[in-house]
Amino acid sequence: MSDKAYLKIDDLEVSFPVETGTEGDRAIDIKTLRSSTGGIVTIDPGYKNTASTRSKITYLNGEAGILRYRGYPIEELADQSSFLEVAYLLIFGELPDKATFEKFVADIKDKSFVNEEMKNIIDGFPRSAHPMGILSSMTSALTAFYPVNFDFNDKEELYKIIVRLLGKFPILGAWAMRKRNGWPLTYADSSLSYTGNLLKMMFEKPMEPYKVNEISAKALDKLLILHADHEQNCSTSTVRLIGSSHAGIFAAISGGVSALWGPLHGGANQAVLEMLEQIRQDGGDVQKYINKAKDKSDPFRLMGFGHRVYKNFDPRARIIKKYADEVLADLGVEDPLLDIAKELEQAALNDEYFKARKLYPNVDFYSGIIYRALGIPVEMFTVMFAIGRLPGWIAQWKEMRENNEPIGRPRQLYIGPRERHYVPIDKR
Ligand code: SDX
Repeated sequence: MSDKAYLKIDDLEVSFPVETGTEGDRAIDIKTLRSSTGGIVTIDPGYKNTASTRSKITYLNGEAGILRYRGYPIEELADQSSFLEVAYLLIFGELPDKATFEKFVADIKDKSFVNEEMKNIIDGFPRSAHPMGILSSMTSALTAFYPVNFDFNDKEELYKIIVRLLGKFPILGAWAMRKRNGWPLTYADSSLSYTGNLLKMMFEKPMEPYKVNEISAKALDKLLILHADHEQNCSTSTVRLIGSSHAGIFAAISGGVSALWGPLHGGANQAVLEMLEQIRQDGGDVQKYINKAKDKSDPFRLMGFGHRVYKNFDPRARIIKKYADEVLADLGVEDPLLDIAKELEQAALNDEYFKARKLYPNVDFYSGIIYRALGIPVEMFTVMFAIGRLPGWIAQWKEMRENNEPIGRPRQLYIGPRERHYVPIDKR
């Protein structure tokens, strides 16, 4: 295979190096394009054909439906690891030994509280505020309480910031739910696991002790693993772009939360449940909604279906679908929406429109069924996604800074008016 690509334009012929990645994926390095062609750039809205970086963190193969974190298959990690161990792997690049991992967990627990004065900020939100809006704002507010103008090369300082974020972020997520319920904002319990504590923070009521259901805690831990990273998706690219200006990590993560909120991205898990509920209330006629999704004059999309990279099954959707049956059975939960989801999936997978466009269920299609079985309200589903994605955002931000990547500043193709001159208002 050639290690050069040639571009012929006008009377110019220029060549560019072709790089090959670990798994054989290839990229044309166009860093000399503008300078060697007198200012010509490429244009690629949505970056469908553009790699923004070189990364060692996560490998996706969309055609084969492969997902690996630092080389480890997602199936093995979901089956054998834990969320905090996966967080360590993503952020620091290797699975930790026992002593290192125990210290990592203890350091996160030690940071699992939030400055009391931050309650004044959350008190300012109306109870109707969407938890993702609260989470994004409160994450950015961490900068005010924990200034991050630190020396990035100070490994100790960097480690402290990382465990601080991992400790406080789920608290802020749980507080967003408690604010919505009008419940007092409580504190973490260091005797519990990461997800046991998250469940307690979300559900405990002041008048009675909260008993963690270990089935629920394990299910949530597995879901967080499955959401932990996904290479250069919309919210991760946002985190990298904000971080590239050397804005603080809390500001970058806050931007990632906002990008994830969109219904085309992480907000899809909430939109899937709302869609399934709409189908149920509409008599369960899945074909009607398949037809709506295919009708170009109808803005309706089949939420939880399709993916920019996966043109085969999203491996996470496979795992979650199988796991949903297990968790609902273990919890003794019957959910008609699961049956509707399976019927909808079958109808879509056998429909020419979806087959031709290689549209398969993605990570968001079944995750909400499990969140619902755990009693998590639908407006908190994307907060769960954010808590899961946090280690990935941190890992990607850290890699971008370690590589001293330049500030992200894309070019454009200008198609606006030519030069023209100001006309005073009484002459227009
Ligand atoms: C996540 O990038 C990541 O890795 C994201 C994520 C992660 O872990 O970070 O995996 C998490 O965001 C998963 C995706 C969640 N979003 C949804 O489920 C929303 C519904 N899906 C779509 O909106 C869409 O599939 C996207 C946004 C996910 C992908 O959009 P693309 O890659 O820009 O594809 P497209 O919109 O150009 O669609 C190609 C064709 C179009 O039809 P034609 O113009 O070719 O006729 O497929 C159609 C689209 O209309 N299409 C759909 C569809 N998704 C694509 N038609 C109906 N229903 C859908 N869901």
